[in-house]
Amino acid sequence: VEESYIMIKPDGVQRGLVGEIISRFEKKGFKLKGLKLFQCPKELAQEHYKDLQSKPFFPKLIDYITSGPVVCMAWEGVGVVASARKLIGATNPLNAEPGTIRGDLAVQTGRNVVHGSDSPDNGKREIALWFKEGELCEWTPVLEPWLKE
Ligand code: GTP
Ligand code: MG
Repeated sequence: VEESYIMIKPDGVQRGLVGEIISRFEKKGFKLKGLKLFQCPKELAQEHYKDLQSKPFFPKLIDYITSGPVVCMAWEGVGVVASARKLIGATNPLNAEPGTIRGDLAVQTGRNVVHGSDSPDNGKREIALWFKEGELCEWTPVLEPWLKE
């Protein structure tokens, strides 16, 4: 099954947007498998964003992600990775369409409130990185027959 790692960044938590952001994924119809509030250590932030380590903004990005608690989530569903990226919107919130999370709720790339995995492989990699065994739930939502024919 396809999974995406979605994370509300420290600005989203500080600005009181946790419920708003979670509810967009809930309403869409994906299945929540893991959820926690977490103060991220520097080493984990560096590992998560290791593909960006040569970028000039990398130190600022690590400071940002570790500046306060984040909300870590694992979401499951067919097509969840690409769909979550659409719900989240463009990296620069000024380019993000209205109706997307970043388009509605943010103004700067360096404060873009939420992360979403960019491929199914990275979804698996990131969920394994951020969650321990026993922190994920396998369950059957009772509404499933009303979401999937
Ligand atoms: P994530 O879902 O967080 O991975 O964002 P993304 O996939 O839309 O963008 P990308 O993976 O390229 O960059 C990761 C994060 O680094 C972005 O979400 C921003 O928070 C930050 N970032 C990317 N580019 C810049 C930049 O030019 N300046 C600053 N300050 N931050 C940047
Ligand atoms: Mg990315």
